[in-house]
Amino acid sequence: MRSLPLRAALGSVPLLLVACGGDSPSATPDAVSGPTYYQDVKPIVDAKCVSCHNPDGIAPFGLTTYAEVEEVGPVAQLNIEHGLMPPWPPNAECNEYVADRSLTEAQKATFAAWVEAGMPAGDPAAPGDPIDVEQVGLSRVDVALEMPQAYMPQTTADYPDEYRCFVLPFPTDVVDGTKYITGFRAVPGNPKVVHHVIAFYAGPGQLAEYQQLDAAEDGDGYTCFGAAGGSGRPAMIGGWAPGGLGYDFPTGTGLEIEAGSAVIMQVHYNVIEAGAEPDRSSVEMKIDDTVERVAQVQPWTNPQWVEGNGMTIPAGEADVMHAFEFDPTLVLGGEFTLFTASMHQHNLGSANRASLVRADGGDECLLQIDDWNFHWQGSYALRQPTQVRPGDKLRVECHWDNSPQNQPSVGGEQMPPRTVSWGEGTGDEMCIGFFYVAPGAP
Ligand code: HEC
Repeated sequence: MRSLPLRAALGSVPLLLVACGGDSPSATPDAVSGPTYYQDVKPIVDAKCVSCHNPDGIAPFGLTTYAEVEEVGPVAQLNIEHGLMPPWPPNAECNEYVADRSLTEAQKATFAAWVEAGMPAGDPAAPGDPIDVEQVGLSRVDVALEMPQAYMPQTTADYPDEYRCFVLPFPTDVVDGTKYITGFRAVPGNPKVVHHVIAFYAGPGQLAEYQQLDAAEDGDGYTCFGAAGGSGRPAMIGGWAPGGLGYDFPTGTGLEIEAGSAVIMQVHYNVIEAGAEPDRSSVEMKIDDTVERVAQVQPWTNPQWVEGNGMTIPAGEADVMHAFEFDPTLVLGGEFTLFTASMHQHNLGSANRASLVRADGGDECLLQIDDWNFHWQGSYALRQPTQVRPGDKLRVECHWDNSPQNQPSVGGEQMPPRTVSWGEGTGDEMCIGFFYVAPGAP
């Protein structure tokens, strides 16, 4: 089910394009006036691609030299044109987000013109100005929690993915009472195999259950897909995906934690490119004694679905939709600010949307993903946090493709569709929005 549509479909295209390209581009006068690698393309690639496409990154090849970029130029151009690279799933019409990694229309046009012109190198001695990348990041590290030792992902050719949860207790000298997490980042130990990391919070009353899950399996940690497992549905702290530098939470806000609690760190390993290699990842957090507003990461979905009712995805159907809306101020006890949005489905998911249906009937899009890819889920910080007031409704909507063509392969054979509903397993489905919210006005 990994979607590599263009690589599979267009593997032979670059040769074709190059063969059709005609005369040597660097010999034509046009090449001098049009975009060149060193002056125009390298700044774009450095800013938008190299965080993953470097020798130690999650991407299968680097894009750090002229030769590397030139080699995949036409395929890269198609990936850019189809919105597949850089991976940035949110629909641009829906809302604006901090640290948007997508290319501007002008950057896309420059890349396309460069490929069209035959990918001239230009003059390495006169490089173009670097493009500013919006730097978010964790401003201070008060606690770093690392896996006890390196872990070797347990994967097979059929299942190059493993989801493993590690229980990492907070040190009691730093978290010796009620404290607040005010910033977060995950540090992948081996970026070649770490696809993403999600940190959950297990309170003092939940810790024993997670330690039992850990003890019940060989090796460090335990298998967990989608969430952290266990009965308590631990709250989310934050997530990391390739290219992420971490972040401080919105000023004045933080997530409450207690002495005797732990982080459950879920690491999604993907060994398809690098093969199985050991990893020792960690999470780092900024901790404060007080905050003005206690925030939460709210997992909002239809409680009925979680009970197993009403989210049936019949076998064979290509577009199944389920939606749910409710007044979230009833849960939070009044007006609140919504800072970030993320949506979560599993492998049959095809699209989703989170929105506010305002008391006056207006529709405000928070996050819309038109082509869901489980591998590229993320959390998106709204450029303008939004106020939610009594009478407003929060709506989550998910679509699934359960057609025969969209089924996983096992042992090289595509499985027949089966009717699916809510659950935490790889073969089950979910539809939840996660929102970082804090009570009151901004
Ligand atoms: C967040 C990480 C990330 C960023 C940023 C990123 N890529 Fe990728 N890229 C990947 C990964 C991982 C793959 C391997 C395929 C996959 O998992 O989707 C890939 C695959 C590719 C491929 C091969 C796709 C195919 O059809 O075979 C091309 C070409 C590519 N990237 C170009 C780019 C370009 C150009 C940029 C910047 C404009 C970029 N990528 C930015 C992670 C990234």
